[in-house]
Order: sequence, then C-alpha cells, then structure tokens
Amino acid sequence: MFETLTATPPDAIVGMIKLAAADTNPNKIDLGVGIYQDPTGATPVMRAVKEAETRLLAEEDSKKYIGILGNPAFNSLFSKLMFGADSEAVTSGRLAMAQAAGGSGALRLGAELIKLANPSATIWMSTPTWANHQPLIGSTGLEIKGYPYYDKQSQRIDFDAMCAELRDNAKAGDAVLLHGCCHNPTGADLSEAQWQTIADLMLEKNLLPFVDLAYAGLGDGLEQDSFGLRLLADKFPELVLAASCSKNFGLYKERVGLVAALCATPEDAELANGQIGLTMRRMISMPPDHGAALVAKILADPELTADWKTELEDMRVRMTSLRIALGDALLAKDGRNTNGQMAAAITAQKGMFSLLPVTPEQAEKLRSEHSVFLLNSGRINIAGAKVETIDRLADCILAVL
Ligand code: LMR
Repeated sequence: MFETLTATPPDAIVGMIKLAAADTNPNKIDLGVGIYQDPTGATPVMRAVKEAETRLLAEEDSKKYIGILGNPAFNSLFSKLMFGADSEAVTSGRLAMAQAAGGSGALRLGAELIKLANPSATIWMSTPTWANHQPLIGSTGLEIKGYPYYDKQSQRIDFDAMCAELRDNAKAGDAVLLHGCCHNPTGADLSEAQWQTIADLMLEKNLLPFVDLAYAGLGDGLEQDSFGLRLLADKFPELVLAASCSKNFGLYKERVGLVAALCATPEDAELANGQIGLTMRRMISMPPDHGAALVAKILADPELTADWKTELEDMRVRMTSLRIALGDALLAKDGRNTNGQMAAAITAQKGMFSLLPVTPEQAEKLRSEHSVFLLNSGRINIAGAKVETIDRLADCILAVL
C-alpha cells in the first residue's frame, strides 16, 4: 500500500546539510544549517555540559519514567532563566509548563494547546520566517497567515506594515508568533520601542503572544534577549512560550526545549498543564530525560552555570566579531551604496542569521561556483564563517551580486 504515498517536498535546511557535506572543496564555506561552529569549524559539546554528563553518569541510578510533563527541575530552572527568577510569571503560579523535544516540540505543543483552547484561532507568522514554522504549526490544522516583517532589498524591518496588517486583519483570539530574539532567517530584531508598540497593539486587539525563543544568549546577551518575552509577560494575562536549549546549550541532537503557557489564574494553569500533558501522552507518551537533566544540573549549580554563561558569551562575541569583519570586508571591497547598506545590515543584525539580498539563482551560483553554502532564500549562518575565510566570502558575495 505504501506505493500510494506521494513524494515529500524538499526541506530547504535539511537538504542543505546534505549538499554541503557532499562538497569536497577544502575551501568550502558552510553557512547553511543553524548550528554554532567554533574557529576550527567544530560544534563541540560545551564544557559545562560535559561536566554535567560526567556527574550524571556517576550519579544516575535509575532510568525510570520522568512523567508526562518531563523533568520538573528542568521546567522550573529553565523557566526562571527565561522569565526571570523573581518575575511575577514565575512566582504567581500562573505558568503551565512542560519539557519538549527541542524548540520545535515546544512550538508544536504550544500550537496544540492554542488549538484546544480556541480552534478558530489563526496563527500569524512573520514574512519571512523559519522555514519549518509553517509546516510544524500548520500540521495542527490551525489556520496560518503571514504578517509583513522584513524587506529583503532594503534589509530593514517593515514595522509599519507589520502593525498595519495585524491591526487591520487579525481578529481577537488569534495568536501572533514573535521571534524573541535573533530573528530566523533575517537576524533583524525588534527594538525595545517596537516591542512596546506591538505589545500595546496586540493588547488592544486581544491577540495572544506566541513567543519562539530559540537563541537566547546569542543576540545581545542572555538577559537582554529575553526583553520582549518579559515585557509581554508583564503586560499580558496570557501568552505561550516555546524555548529551545539546542543552540545556547549546544544540545541540538538531545532535543531539549520548554513549552510554557502563562495563564490568567493558577487554576487555568492547572487546566493547561493537564492538556499539555494529555497532548504529550497522545503524541510521544513521555519526553526523554538526558538533555533536560543536563540543563537542570547546570542551572542548579552556580559554578556550572557561571562556566556555561562564559562559554555562551564567548560564542556570542565570536559571532558578533564575524559580523563586523564581514561588514568591514564588504565595505572595503566595494563602496557602492547597496553594499554599504548590506555591510551595515549584517553588522547590526543579531545571532546566527542574516538574509543576503540575493536571488535563488545567485544563491545557487554561490554554492556551485564558489562552494559557499547558504539557503536559496539568501539566509547565511555567520557562525559558519571563519576569520580566515571572511575575505573570500566577501569576494564571492560581491561576485554574484
Ligand atoms: C535552522 O534554522 O537552521 C535550525 O533551526 C535547524 C533546523 O532544524 O532548521
């Protein structure tokens, strides 16, 4: 019967992992999938994670189930890290939360919860957004619509168009997916003033914030990267958070994330916990423990936490310096106005990604003629560059433009 199945559409990001791996050019530059790479091109296990693993191996005495909502210590410690330990969101008992299979699992559980509470909600997503947002959240059956966010040619956020779309077309009870920091794929984040404005607009229209926080610590720093989330949590009675430990703890393949629903009352949070647990049970029964146990160990130990924060900050600073180096190289090699704009945008953007103003054909040319791997959309992962390859990268970009 399986011959009746249809062929799957290609996945822009997963496909690029394979393409880049198959290229044997020793000078290839892989800016495809969003993983952090160190100056040698490796994606090492973070020091604190290694230490936590050593301790876990020595101490663990059972592999029994951890429960449908996952590791309670992880849920508590990681939510404090995101919302702030003393925040009202944490201390009020209004948070429902569960450990999820990465940020993606958290997005899916969050979307399922929204659907259970309001099946006619539309989920509004930025245009552009992470390539998997639509398939992942759309699989719940909820309606998806886009709001304008970023103009690729001018390389700026089109904030007026974003506000106008939501003001004119979103209906009460709809959810708005917002990238908490390090917007994927553009690297263009809302300013603090823009967060305030969008929060007020959403409050006025009774829209639910759905925050995807996958890169906390890799934009402006751990505290600063939670600015939007914390502002919304202060203002709104309800919101949904999908947070990931893939990038900031380097736990990609362990699949660790947190879904949290801030509810109007502790009683509502009980209901939400029940429904998240039931959804989990119906999808995967219970989440795995290893990655979440490591994060819990790190966050429960001040020394491990300090070491993790230091390494995370080093990663962030390295990506920022690569942005500056690429911006400088583009500016020095070609002073034309457009490239001045591109240099400024790349330098100012946050986190791993920027969206180059290239066509899919130019992106293909970068791959096939220069062994520079980026997505067809023009998305680059700056962490895939190295100080010694920046010059060549700037030459290649200018060559195809
Ligand atoms: C990315 O955007 O490249 C990462 O989040 C990896 C993925 O699963 O797409």
